[in-house]
Amino acid sequence: MISEKIVEKTIDDAIALFRESELNAIYSRRAVRSYSHQRVSSELVDKLIDAAIQAPSAMNSQPWGFVVIQNQELIHELSVKVTSDFDVFYEATTLIIVYAKKDGFEPVGDCYLAIQNLMLAATALGLGTCPIGYARETLKSEEWRQKLSIPSDYVPVLPIVVGYTQDVPTKSDRSPPQIFKWIK
Ligand SMILES: Cc1cc2nc3c(=O)[nH]c(=O)nc-3n(C[C@H](O)[C@H](O)[C@H](O)COP(=O)(O)O)c2cc1C
Repeated sequence: MISEKIVEKTIDDAIALFRESELNAIYSRRAVRSYSHQRVSSELVDKLIDAAIQAPSAMNSQPWGFVVIQNQELIHELSVKVTSDFDVFYEATTLIIVYAKKDGFEPVGDCYLAIQNLMLAATALGLGTCPIGYARETLKSEEWRQKLSIPSDYVPVLPIVVGYTQDVPTKSDRSPPQIFKWIK
């Protein structure tokens, strides 16, 4: 019979091990707002999208679609359309926009799961990311739907900038979780 102490130690060891490997990306991911000009290779972008589509989706509907922009002029043009006050994409060299199919069970929720996969994979691969919700309204416009050839049954969920981190951001705090009930 395994004593409780041994079981406890094993769980602690397992958690420590996970934190160093898979969980590491969860704990080290930050919203990066300063990027170097180094380009992200197509191979890496492919890996990020492949990680994204491993996400679960309601009834395995996989309601996502992607646009990748690595053209600096176009990224700048979109930023200016959002606001002329500052570069909303923080000079990142890659912008990945995730679109959700309009109809379905939980298309937008599914896409957010895919987005988190993408950002964690980027962290694990040494890349920085930041979701840019600020640009979503502009991406909904007919002008940008046409420019990016978006099928009429898809809506933008979230653009994410990806690149090599220039200034490492400080960790933003988390409030303790509100656990309303824990029934044992
Ligand atoms: C849906 C969503 C939209 C966001 N939009 C923006 C944005 O437009 N610009 C920006 O700089 N950060 C944006 N962020 C990043 C958040 O500000 C950031 O995740 C939060 O401050 C916590 O910091 P952390 O990601 O480093 O833990 C967005 C995050 C999410 C989830």
